[in-house]
Amino acid sequence: MTAGLHRVSARCGVGLRLPHLAEVVASRPPVPWFEVHPENFLANPHAAELLTTIACDYPISVHTVGVSIGSASGIDRSHLGRVRTLVDDIDPILVSGHLAWSTHAGDYLNDLLPLPYDHETLLLLARHIDEVQDGLGRPYLVENPSSYVGFGTSTMTEVEFLSELVDRTGCRLLCDVSNIYLSGHNMGFDPYAYVDGLPIETIGELHLGGFTVEEDESNPGAEFLIDTHSARISEPVWDLYAHAVRRFGPRPTLIEWDNEIPLFATLVGEAARADAVAAQALDRQVRHAIAG
Ligand SMILES: [Fe+2]
Repeated sequence: MTAGLHRVSARCGVGLRLPHLAEVVASRPPVPWFEVHPENFLANPHAAELLTTIACDYPISVHTVGVSIGSASGIDRSHLGRVRTLVDDIDPILVSGHLAWSTHAGDYLNDLLPLPYDHETLLLLARHIDEVQDGLGRPYLVENPSSYVGFGTSTMTEVEFLSELVDRTGCRLLCDVSNIYLSGHNMGFDPYAYVDGLPIETIGELHLGGFTVEEDESNPGAEFLIDTHSARISEPVWDLYAHAVRRFGPRPTLIEWDNEIPLFATLVGEAARADAVAAQALDRQVRHAIAG
């Protein structure tokens, strides 16, 4: 119904969650685009109707949380078919999901769980991404996860694994800058080196989300960062975002806030800050280039 009407914007959009749906329909705020989780709408006909209305006026990105490309038991084709129906209806600018697994043999878990980065997993994920892209009839963006544990059996870094998936499937990447910062803290790697290792041309979208700090019970005095999407973006993540924008160039960026959801105006404020940070990062880059 909206085919061809909307183009991808490099300005910052916001995640549209159910508590803000009616407000957005009524007030039509000046937001460049929205991202939605299709799973919030598939069993909620009223919400789906409101989303269809919003999709007439705004570009929409569809961010799946239940497709589970990492499931050893395979892709749930009936769920993928339901997502396809919604995607065909609202014609999103982007469709994405996570490098993770969240289902097994028909059971849906409420978490995005980690994967070993080895050859066997690579083949499984490549097969599943092919299946998802065929099933949706459009490209799929794969998002880097937030990490708390790793596998001793991994033979590749996460960046190497993602790059292999891109080469094998033609998928693109959704670079969650907050996840890189958080995972770097939790797993002990340099988040700037991670950003520098990603293949630039494959980055189709950036995410920014808030995290919470918790004490690491196994290591007194140390802290874990938990990807709660329940707070403002932290200062070190803004710095890493500026670095990512300088490396990747302008990319559609999204503010994710899924728990303790604030007033809609707070999301708009965070999006405005993202636009300002990106503009300043690019301006500084141009000035450096001119100065030689
Ligand atoms: Fe994200």
